[in-house]
Amino acid sequence: MLKSINPSQTQAWSELGEHAGAMKETSIKALFGEDNERFNKYSLQFEDILFDYSKNLITDETLTKLFALAEQTELKQAIAAMFGGEKINATENRAVLHTALRNRSNTEVVVDGENVMPLVNAELAKMKAFCEKVHSGSWTGYTGKAITDVVNIGIGGSDLGPVMVTESLKPYWKNVTPHFVSNVDGTHIVEILKKVDPETTLFLIASKTFTTQETMTNAHSARDWFLNAAGDEAHVAKHFAALSTNKDSVVAFGIDAANMFEFWDWVGGRYSLWSAIGLSIALTIGYDNFEAILQGAHEVDLHVQQADFAENIPVLMALLGIWYGNFFDADSEAILPYDQYMHRFAAYFQQGNMESNGKYVSRSGEAVDYQTGPIIWGEPGTNGQHAFYQLIHQGTKLIPCDFLAPAVSHNPTGDHHPKLLANFFAQTEALAFGKTKQQVEAEFAAAGKSAADVAELVPHKVFEGNRPTNSILFKQMTPATLGRLIALYEHKIFVQGVIWNIYSFDQWGVELGKQLASQILPELDDDADVSSHDSSTNGLINTYKAWRK
Ligand code: F6P
Repeated sequence: MLKSINPSQTQAWSELGEHAGAMKETSIKALFGEDNERFNKYSLQFEDILFDYSKNLITDETLTKLFALAEQTELKQAIAAMFGGEKINATENRAVLHTALRNRSNTEVVVDGENVMPLVNAELAKMKAFCEKVHSGSWTGYTGKAITDVVNIGIGGSDLGPVMVTESLKPYWKNVTPHFVSNVDGTHIVEILKKVDPETTLFLIASKTFTTQETMTNAHSARDWFLNAAGDEAHVAKHFAALSTNKDSVVAFGIDAANMFEFWDWVGGRYSLWSAIGLSIALTIGYDNFEAILQGAHEVDLHVQQADFAENIPVLMALLGIWYGNFFDADSEAILPYDQYMHRFAAYFQQGNMESNGKYVSRSGEAVDYQTGPIIWGEPGTNGQHAFYQLIHQGTKLIPCDFLAPAVSHNPTGDHHPKLLANFFAQTEALAFGKTKQQVEAEFAAAGKSAADVAELVPHKVFEGNRPTNSILFKQMTPATLGRLIALYEHKIFVQGVIWNIYSFDQWGVELGKQLASQILPELDDDADVSSHDSSTNGLINTYKAWRK
């Protein structure tokens, strides 16, 4: 159990509040002017990843106070508790051990008196053997043909991780094409099924609980579609596997227990790509590459446990987020990968972060009096530049941004990559340093503009700058690198949850909507008007009923 410590009552919090007042009087530009060593002081390299956090509105004093906040909220103890298998997910009475799934050191990890590593290793061995059969063509469909397509049916954590990882690692794809069905909207499965052949398709039903409405509905539709072609129920075993913690429901669905890849209640859905939920990843890029992702993440697991706060990248990422969220009222953060393959990275951490830290109740059950989890959003650069960066540069909101880019492209076509990276470097420079009135006026003067034009346009062309960013430059997108990047963000989220005194590993906020939807569903069976809800909900339902006729 993690202690309940109200961060806003700590000495460090009040000192940070005062310090933020002073820092509002300076700027990132002024700080760079005062100190030529900022890049050297405020950047760290971890394996093939350079984390440059120098373009933040921070000084040594800021960091000292942020580290004090981490100490006073007992972050070190919390890290030890999580890795040690304590039931830190108290509202579900569960340990939080996605780190055990990638524990390549194979050291003991004990939950309820049992070392879970033999279970983890056995499941990985089963995944490996299965991948080998599929890739070699020895696992065949009902007509004897090899598998060419895998359809992962899952939602949330049982979908977003595999989608993001397979997309990020497209250069590593083998001879199996992955597809993903998540939405209960029939359009999703119908469109995917148009692309695949029942004779050569393997369906992975990915659901921790095996009760999620969207996934079970899609799984039944996939089964019907398959049986429509294959005819015989006996063929299901060759084409359906389950990734779940719920054996009874898997068997009740009609999937052979031998085709079930298991994980455990101490794996949170949004932290499950490292588990059997990663089978679609391993089938797409090969088991060895999947293992390399685990290895990369494991390195970060060791780093977050061992590095001093000042050298600890996830801790720094977390503290910087707290600095802006709690002391500058920033309410969102943008994740901006300059790598087209990473186009789902922000979406992945939208769930990772917002489902984890979107909580207003503290660990002692009271409403907090400070901001918790930020809104996470983002799109790949340079597309974002031509869409929403205007607001980041000149809007009224402070939006701390993470810029990510590989130094080496998997597609070194012409001068695309230098152009992409030139934009990557330019954006953080522009955001930090802006463009002054004097610079704009000088440009106008050089262009021979009239005094009247200058007076009218200058205010619109000034960039205040002072917009904080982190730059995460990595050598090349490899499985290990991606594992490292994901684990860095996962631990950032964990650290913030500890400091905000909330429970990051439950998600009760998704339940009410599910409950109400299951009450409404039977009301949609007939055409009679409903009157059991508020006037808006009644009005919407009754209009739907009238229009669907
Ligand atoms: O959205 C709620 C949620 O429980 C997520 O946390 C989870 O990733 C998703 O639903 C899917 O759950 P399951 O894997 O049990 O189908």
